Amino acid sequence: MKVTKAVIPAAGYGTRFLPASKSQPKEMLPIVDTPTIQYVIEEIVDSGITDILMVIGKSKRAIEEHFDRNFELEAELEAKNKLAELKVIQDISGLANIHFVWQKELNGLGDAVMCARHHVGQEPFVLLLGDTLIESPHGHATQQLIDIFNRYQESAVLLEQVDPAKVDRYGIMGGKEIEDGLYLVEEFVEKPPLNEAPSNLAIAGRYIFNPEIFEFLEKTPPGKNGEIQLTDAMQSMLTKRAAYGLKLDGMRHDIGNKLDFLKTNIHFALKRDDVGPGLREYLKEINQNL
Ligand code: G1P
Repeated sequence: MKVTKAVIPAAGYGTRFLPASKSQPKEMLPIVDTPTIQYVIEEIVDSGITDILMVIGKSKRAIEEHFDRNFELEAELEAKNKLAELKVIQDISGLANIHFVWQKELNGLGDAVMCARHHVGQEPFVLLLGDTLIESPHGHATQQLIDIFNRYQESAVLLEQVDPAKVDRYGIMGGKEIEDGLYLVEEFVEKPPLNEAPSNLAIAGRYIFNPEIFEFLEKTPPGKNGEIQLTDAMQSMLTKRAAYGLKLDGMRHDIGNKLDFLKTNIHFALKRDDVGPGLREYLKEINQNL
């Protein structure tokens, strides 16, 4: 079956970004001048998917407005002959067909994904965490997961090798490497203590699923932190279907915490022609005083 749908859960409170996240979602925080969520949407669109469902919570209207047209602003930019800026904002609203569904209570990632059931129907879908950016030298991670799905017709997940001291912050996979960087999954466990972790390969915010995941999610009781954990449903699904893991060949940027958010901004800014050279100079300058 062809993959035509993507789901982005973006409903969390973003408590780590208060007060900035009080009235806007953390996914709208900019990396230089572009909201994080826009990079995620671009990754999906570049993978050939144009039907996108966002699972949103409170204070998420800014996301809707960002991807909608803004006729007043367009008229203003046109009148002032700011045509480059006009194109930038028009392109955003033409990116994809974005739908929204509200997660009524924030009961964890598994619950957020469950909200997509009706929209997804009986089709496979990709799932991208809205606060994670992936940079890969060999094409987008989403495209790579779609390629695995096309090969096996089974679920797949992106994995990142993390510092063993941090395995208790992630969903962890245990499995057998069947090809360079490709794993047949034997086990998924959410945020295990180090002595119970089957590896240090962490689930890295990009997934592809058969629609059967919903049957397992439906039966998943609250797990870690009293929340419905997607990882627990993935573990249950292993009783019925195979799953694959792909080791990330690149970088994962987590904008969900302040320090990584700042690092991500610097990382992306340094690569840009407009602000990169100036920022590099500034960093050299302050480096002497650190
Ligand atoms: C979620 C998932 C976890 C995954 C992580 C990646 O955890 O539950 O399996 O490894 O995202 O960022 P969270 O960061 O929401 O606690």
